[in-house]
Amino acid sequence: MEVLLRLIIRVHSRLPSRSPPRRRCLSSGAGGSSLPRLPPAALVAGSSRELLHTLRSQVEVRTEFISEVEEVALMQELEPGLRKKRYQFDHWDDAIHGYRETERVRWGDVCEGVLSRVRSVAFPEGSPLLGPVHVLDLDKAGYIKPHIDSVKFCGSTIAGISLLSDSVMRLVKEGTTNEWLDLLLPRRSLYILRDQARYDFTHEILKDEESVFHGHRVPRQRRISVICRNLPV
Ligand code: OGA
Ligand code: MN
Repeated sequence: MEVLLRLIIRVHSRLPSRSPPRRRCLSSGAGGSSLPRLPPAALVAGSSRELLHTLRSQVEVRTEFISEVEEVALMQELEPGLRKKRYQFDHWDDAIHGYRETERVRWGDVCEGVLSRVRSVAFPEGSPLLGPVHVLDLDKAGYIKPHIDSVKFCGSTIAGISLLSDSVMRLVKEGTTNEWLDLLLPRRSLYILRDQARYDFTHEILKDEESVFHGHRVPRQRRISVICRNLPV
């Protein structure tokens, strides 16, 4: 299974990373997300208005997609299995640094309820999904390098819930450095990437030191993502 997981993503051509200025803190960082409740448009920043407009239906962030109770239920199901694994830091060719991961097919009632909500809001009706849900546990020092999920194994849509920490996801148009979107992913939010945003842009999760959104620092703690994907047609 792990081999399949690793096939889903590969490190993408290293793009020079922009380093936005650091300013105020958006989150206190300790424990819960203390981001103010932001309207959806405030969660996506971009290199130009045109790009924001073009991708508006292909990039979504929904805050408070799960409740605190649901986050606890997900953690209770996932933590025992994750705890048995070690974070991996030393694979130079991995797209992900400082992570452990698993896949899960069967879930308890509360978690199944969350996942069926993800399926109904994120995927076109009738679209066949990748059976197991992917669970990625990033250490506080972990991060995801720019990559595009394998088109061989995954279809047009990627939807992920963020647990335990706020984070910043960056999308950069493949082969460029000046066409980008930054997504603020508050703890307990759902993000959805579709079509062009999924196929033509790399995505990454910024490391703590670089985790800045709109000039505001977004401290990164340990972060777990629960990711659903559909199958290629
Ligand atoms: C991946 C990935 C994003 C996330 O595993 O391919 O991009 O939210 N994960 O963890
Ligand atoms: Mn990915």
